Amino acid sequence: MSQQRVLITGAAGIVGRLMRTRLARPGRVLRLLDIAQPDPAGSGEAVEIHTGSVTDAALMADLCHDVDAIIHLGGISREDSWERILEVNIDGTHTLLEAARVAGVPRVVLASSNHAVGFRAIGQDGSDGLAGDSSPRPDTYYGVSKAAIESLGSLYHSRFGMDVSCLRIGSCFERPADVRQLSFWLSPDDCARLLEACLATAEPGYRVLWGVSANTRAVVSLAEAEAIGYRSLDDAERFAASVPPGELPSLVGGAFIETPLGQHNPL
Ligand SMILES: NC(=O)c1ccc[n+]([C@@H]2O[C@H](COP(=O)([O-])OP(=O)(O)OC[C@H]3O[C@@H](n4cnc5c(N)ncnc54)[C@H](O)[C@@H]3O)[C@@H](O)[C@H]2O)c1
Repeated sequence: MSQQRVLITGAAGIVGRLMRTRLARPGRVLRLLDIAQPDPAGSGEAVEIHTGSVTDAALMADLCHDVDAIIHLGGISREDSWERILEVNIDGTHTLLEAARVAGVPRVVLASSNHAVGFRAIGQDGSDGLAGDSSPRPDTYYGVSKAAIESLGSLYHSRFGMDVSCLRIGSCFERPADVRQLSFWLSPDDCARLLEACLATAEPGYRVLWGVSANTRAVVSLAEAEAIGYRSLDDAERFAASVPPGELPSLVGGAFIETPLGQHNPL
């Protein structure tokens, strides 16, 4: 069996750490990159550890060598100055896609966000919930960068035939923390299931998918994700009694819609 190598950017972050053991498979090597030092390899763990930035073109050219797929999580994951968002999220994703193209990497999964559509209303897009491929209505510069990442992915698919999946991730944490997350939670196990579905698509395509679990209170559609074989086995409802009381916001982006634009948000 030939070995599969998957480059994961942002591997030291919340999602990257949650995925590290979940995506481990016999015959698969995870090439981990972050500007922060990822944890060292555990005994018998098939990982390669790299420290550096997705904005470094020479490094990305190196790291895309001999790679079967890229899971791009690295970047700024909340609101920040326009300059930093532009450099890290937009230019950084362009640098990564360009390196992937040159190296012939056939498949890329891009971490988008619900904040690409943060100004879309909840509950007004039909009974199946907000579609995965609804056009962007970003709520922050961060959300703009996620819409741009989706556009870059579309371009690299259409021009170069790269298989590109953009995941509009809801809230991927160990457990939901508030009422909004009861609707938008993506359990870590479901996140791994969704990534595996993206890694296994038969035909090169371009798709924008919601990354959420099959939550009782879901307000977004899983149709696009299910079309590539994703089957959620989790539901945030089992945590409902333990989250503080509150109301589901009327817009997808929740509190982000009032975040001061361009202001570093440490939360
Ligand atoms: N966790 C969620 O609920 C959620 C929701 C929506 C979207 N997302 C997206 O998923 C991805 C992962 O989210 P997260 O929660 O793990 O965020 P995180 O902030 O915990 O992790 C992001 C990682 O990227 C790294 N990074 C930052 N700049 C980098 C650079 N220039 N080069 C390489 N690495 C860099 C950071 O050091 C960090 O470890 C992000 O792109 C985020 O926008 C996450």
